[in-house]
Amino acid sequence: MLPPAVKETALSTARNMVPSENTVHVSFAPAESARVYDIVIGQDILAQAGERLAAVLTSKKICIVTDETVARLYLVNLMKNLEMSGFNACPPVILPAGERTKNFEHLQNIIDRFSSYKLDRSATIVALGGGVVGDIAGFAAAIFMRGAGFAQIPTTLLAQVDSSVGGKTGINTAAGKNLAGAFHQPKIVLIDTGVLKTLPPRELKAGYAEILKYALIGDPDFFAWLEQNGATLLAGDAAAQEYAIGKSCRAKAAIVVADEDERKDIRALLNLGHSFGHALEALGGYDGRILHGEAVGTGCLLAFEFSRDRGLCPAEDVERLRGHMQKAGLMTEPPFKAAAEDMFARMQSDKKNRDGRTTLVLARGIGRAFVAGDIVAADVLAFLKKRF
Ligand SMILES: NC(=O)c1ccc[n+]([C@@H]2O[C@H](COP(=O)([O-])OP(=O)(O)OC[C@H]3O[C@@H](n4cnc5c(N)ncnc54)[C@H](O)[C@@H]3O)[C@@H](O)[C@H]2O)c1
Ligand SMILES: [Zn+2]
Repeated sequence: MLPPAVKETALSTARNMVPSENTVHVSFAPAESARVYDIVIGQDILAQAGERLAAVLTSKKICIVTDETVARLYLVNLMKNLEMSGFNACPPVILPAGERTKNFEHLQNIIDRFSSYKLDRSATIVALGGGVVGDIAGFAAAIFMRGAGFAQIPTTLLAQVDSSVGGKTGINTAAGKNLAGAFHQPKIVLIDTGVLKTLPPRELKAGYAEILKYALIGDPDFFAWLEQNGATLLAGDAAAQEYAIGKSCRAKAAIVVADEDERKDIRALLNLGHSFGHALEALGGYDGRILHGEAVGTGCLLAFEFSRDRGLCPAEDVERLRGHMQKAGLMTEPPFKAAAEDMFARMQSDKKNRDGRTTLVLARGIGRAFVAGDIVAADVLAFLKKRF
């Protein structure tokens, strides 16, 4: 493992070659080298993957994990690029696309493939794909031989601004989403905005909702920027995408570094919109009618409305948020009938409740979210009954 100072030099040399690039340094305390890494964001990063990885990895042994859709689009070029930089890449593990892949069976297959390639802990597992690939490949890397190297090349907007940052990896179990997993930080995250050109518009908007979430949590200026530039970003403008991805990664990295294992109330802020959102996702049965990002955007609006009803948030901030979401073409209402009682029941099963009280992330306005730990659960039900 290169000490951080050497890694910095190697990266800044590479950085000088690409003026448009944007790098977020992530450094968990104590800053030993395994816990310091860069998120590199730019318009042609995939074509530099080999040199970028070579600058931070000590072993040339790697194995790419991807899904069928992403493999068709980007795998051949990536393999060639890595070989040109002297990497010895095993035959890639190509998984079926979609959430159902995040299960024990595929995890076992991935581990068996690593064993058949005689990989060891010095090897690096490279996740090329959306959050599904990042989560299962990262978990496989975390447990293979008690922890192999890991690098992320996220290819959906959601993965670029959310799932590739923070080190959470995992799979779903029969009992629910993300119930088995581990924290495993990557050695580098390579974000190429160019891959967003092939992403379906609906997936792009779902990722945009998570970008909006960071602005709503703590950055009113960023919200104003999104009001001005959101449409351009969604239309595919690479500079706008790069700026917003950088802002989002920085916001998430600052939060996770301050509260890596979620023991304080800081990381919980990232759950803005997620209590309502997870309930909507569960009611939708994960059948594709509502994507995670769509549920989170709708959930953020509900959290703002609930905050307004409690006298915490000005009504004009709620309308400003709704107005921006509608203008950007984001979902603001569930696409199916959500009964208040059903939604409340899902919200109750999603979290710990004590004495009829629950925790929600609420807001005092745009960019002013906070964790409210003493919400009377019956008030949430009353709000949902009024709303749905
Ligand atoms: N680890 C975390 O902190 C974290 C955070 C948020 C979400 N997640 C997880 O992320 C997952 C959702 O991730 P997602 O939204 O990226 O979904 P996904 O990985 O299923 O990708 C969505 C679809 O887009 C396709 N795709 C990916 N990149 C593409 C590209 N460039 N062009 C065309 N098609 C492309 C995929 O094949 C897939 O069909 C969930 O499992 C969720 O639990 C994890
Ligand atoms: Zn989310």
